[in-house]
Amino acid sequence: MVAVKMMRQLAQVTATAVLVGEAAAQNSAQANITSDSYFYGQSPPVYPSPQQPGIGPWADAHTKAVALVAQMTPEERANITVGFTTTTGCSGETGSVPRLNWPGLCLLDSGNGVRNTDFVNGWSSGIHVGASFNRNLSYERAFYMGGEFKTKGVHVALGPAIGPLGRVAEGGRNWEGFSVDPYLSGQLVYESVKGIQEAGVTATTKHFIANEQELNRNPIREVASLSSNIDDKTMHETYLWPFADAVRAGTGAIMCSYNRINNSYASQNSKLLNGLLKTELGFEGFVVTDWGAQHTGIASALAGLDMVMPNSRNYWGPNAGNLTIAVNNGSMEDSRLTDMAVRIVASWYQMGQDEDFPELGVGMPRNILAPHAIVDARNPVASPIVLRSALEGHVLVKNVNNTLPLNKPKIIGVFGYDAPAPSRYNVGAQSGDTPNRWQFGYDSVLNYLGFLSTTAPAPPFAANGTLTSGGGSGAALGAYISAPLDAIQQQAYLDGTQVYWDTISANPLVNGATDACLVFINAFASEGPDRTALYDDYSDALVQNVAANCSNTIVTIHNAGIRLIDQWIENPNVTAVIFAHLPGQDSGRAAVQILYGLESPSGKLPYTVAKNESDYNVLKPDQPTGQYQRFPQGDFIEGVYHDYRDFDRKNITPRYEFGFGLSYTTFEFADLSVAKADGAVSTYLPPGSNIIEGGVASLHDVLARVTAVVHNTGDVDAMEVAQLYVGIPGGPVRQLRGFEKVSIAAGDSATVSFDLVRKDLSEWSVEEQSWVLQEGNYNVYVGSSSRDLPLTGTLTF
Ligand code: NOJ
Repeated sequence: MVAVKMMRQLAQVTATAVLVGEAAAQNSAQANITSDSYFYGQSPPVYPSPQQPGIGPWADAHTKAVALVAQMTPEERANITVGFTTTTGCSGETGSVPRLNWPGLCLLDSGNGVRNTDFVNGWSSGIHVGASFNRNLSYERAFYMGGEFKTKGVHVALGPAIGPLGRVAEGGRNWEGFSVDPYLSGQLVYESVKGIQEAGVTATTKHFIANEQELNRNPIREVASLSSNIDDKTMHETYLWPFADAVRAGTGAIMCSYNRINNSYASQNSKLLNGLLKTELGFEGFVVTDWGAQHTGIASALAGLDMVMPNSRNYWGPNAGNLTIAVNNGSMEDSRLTDMAVRIVASWYQMGQDEDFPELGVGMPRNILAPHAIVDARNPVASPIVLRSALEGHVLVKNVNNTLPLNKPKIIGVFGYDAPAPSRYNVGAQSGDTPNRWQFGYDSVLNYLGFLSTTAPAPPFAANGTLTSGGGSGAALGAYISAPLDAIQQQAYLDGTQVYWDTISANPLVNGATDACLVFINAFASEGPDRTALYDDYSDALVQNVAANCSNTIVTIHNAGIRLIDQWIENPNVTAVIFAHLPGQDSGRAAVQILYGLESPSGKLPYTVAKNESDYNVLKPDQPTGQYQRFPQGDFIEGVYHDYRDFDRKNITPRYEFGFGLSYTTFEFADLSVAKADGAVSTYLPPGSNIIEGGVASLHDVLARVTAVVHNTGDVDAMEVAQLYVGIPGGPVRQLRGFEKVSIAAGDSATVSFDLVRKDLSEWSVEEQSWVLQEGNYNVYVGSSSRDLPLTGTLTF
């Protein structure tokens, strides 16, 4: 049995890594695993690559794909596994087989909307969806977003993202994912995959796996990517968890990440691809590289990689000719090449793309400024969903003496660079990776504020207008932006309010008779660099300057990740604070509905807001130095103790805990009932038995049901997110294992119920290589956040 030695010395891990090297990962891993001593930091070989199971919901698509691929020559089969230079706006296109009317696939970013084109919606980002804690809304957002991809002739959407999972508090891409919590991420990615795919588009759940930081994500000259070193238990209970839910939902594609995992690149890591994904989780779809993430030729195919993007500069060569050479000279089985093609073609059938699918990349030229036919992908039915999705990610964390909602204020002031619309002079250029920097003429404003540096890492905030999305390939922008200032002016028109505004000054003048001072700031993050801090002095000074002159200062923060607010949160003049995350195009409209009480806030924090940066156990990206720099190591020694699991373990009081969020009404929880499901429950789960998509089928048997009653004791109709946490014996103090968002009229109540499935109550046993339900007492908690849990009970197995 392989022992888990989590706390090994860094020197030992890195010394092994140097021995292992890169291209030789498989062989060396094999050599090391036989020493029977270490698992951590090493990746055992798992071969051969499992063929597509083609069972259950995939049976038909599999049969059709097998039949079509059987008609393809080896060259044609190889050709559809690689990318080609495109003339469309697609991020990548596969080869086609015109002889068999197989069109090839268009793959395009992102998990937050259709990227780099016009006449699409700019949806809320992943973190915003996470804050909504709303399964139905996640499904609807994904369904209508998926429809937009389809209308543009995109077969494969490059999202949703559930990795990074926010291990590193300053991680540059945490905003693309839903939450730091694996359960919440898993529930929402399940709905998102279902939604995208039921609209007829393949979802690409990414980045597999442990792409937790931007620093060293790719090799630079002779320095390899960071190796995310994860022990087997942490892998299962934390990082793999949401991917299992994505596979359970039937995700047609998985994108492997740039980094190495236990010293083997994600694109060639047989333990991950052949082992965890294709064997343990029974994945039916295809594995595609992140763009340029391939580092070996046949080795990556043998390890389970099915498609390489974006173009012929890859190790399989133009038209993947090296694959056919490998088959001909016996270094790869023909069945592997066939399976790669079957998995790709089966996803096309599975999503119904063989019938009435629009022309590939239609109305979406590579350069959007070039003349082109307009293809409006927005479904009018989706407009209320775009707005609802923007609304529900707003989290109200402070509201003294019912400052909010505003009620026809006589005079208001609007302050901060985040209130107005960005200036938008360079719309849609292919270089448009970072909305507030390149697409919106960011640099000129940064220059004005004295921040300009073209080589600087991502600035801490986006200075020239409201932040609706983070930056990089996950940024998808809509046809318009409703900025907070614009929407407030509209409301002022309705209310007869006098508005004063200054969105440039860091120390604006405040009219002494102002009823409410609305300050808008943001916290920017992007693919590429990690963040440098969880706050910025410029924005904090702005808030304090306004608060110094205004006793009713209301702060709204558009934050692409965790934003600390301890510089001013206890200032008595700061009367209300909203984390408004990344709402997408309807940002201002949504903000006004909340600020003025047309809608009670219902979002909850999908992460912990600490009092101090040092309260996070992993604040900064791993930055290896010294003699092992060529093979940088990132040791995930905190194991599963990530975000609130660590705060709870160490009893650190956060500023605002995971799951926290206020409303304009009050709720009370009562009548907890905790009941085991009927029938005998075996604690033993034989490994490997009856694997369906997502893992062993019986992991989703319901073992217990918890119910509670939520009363709306205030006088405002509102939604509440009832949350269920479980203390698994020997594990973290408590872990989210259920949530239900309910709409309750003032004075009414609602019953919430949570089904606990076997996996929810199990721990991963490294010895058994299986999920194990333990005998003993499980503490059960229900309430409105991870630390406000008025109802407690016990489950005993
Ligand atoms: C790199 C990013 O990591 C990935 O998320 C994206 O889908 C591809 N580029 C394609 O743009």
